Amino acid sequence: MATFNLKINGEQQMVDVDPSTPMLWVLRDHLKLVGTKYGCGIAQCGSCTIHLGGVAVRACMLTVSSVGNQEIRTIEGLSENGDHPVQKAWLEIDVPQCGYCQAGQIMSAAALLENNPNPSDNEIEMAMNGNICRCGTYTRIKKAIKTAAGSAS
Ligand code: FES
Ligand code: FES
Repeated sequence: MATFNLKINGEQQMVDVDPSTPMLWVLRDHLKLVGTKYGCGIAQCGSCTIHLGGVAVRACMLTVSSVGNQEIRTIEGLSENGDHPVQKAWLEIDVPQCGYCQAGQIMSAAALLENNPNPSDNEIEMAMNGNICRCGTYTRIKKAIKTAAGSAS
């Protein structure tokens, strides 16, 4: 066990865990930030997507010991009132079906738009490629990303 001082959603959080613990379990089990979902555990589905230093990463494969001083943002910290442009677009387009994958989808979309405010169709597909949706909401996801970017046709 070791103690880690992490910056998560703008707050310092101290956790005492094995250094090999994936951030997914630090967030869910130790900090009760359960918006980040477990899907596959092997970086294949995207349901656990969070931001590390502003970049979308898979929390299931990110060990707590590799985070260092980089800031972590989870779906709980994306906005104060659920009013991030991506969240508003998700509501407007009514994207979710069962909802399980959607926190990860939103975190990937938000990271995309932070780094590329007006992505092309191809860039959206590339950025969202690793986020699987069993309900097949891909068309609405793409539309919502374009809406959030202000480029919906
Ligand atoms: S649970 Fe992390 S990518 Fe599937
Ligand atoms: S909305 Fe059901 S898995 Fe994506």
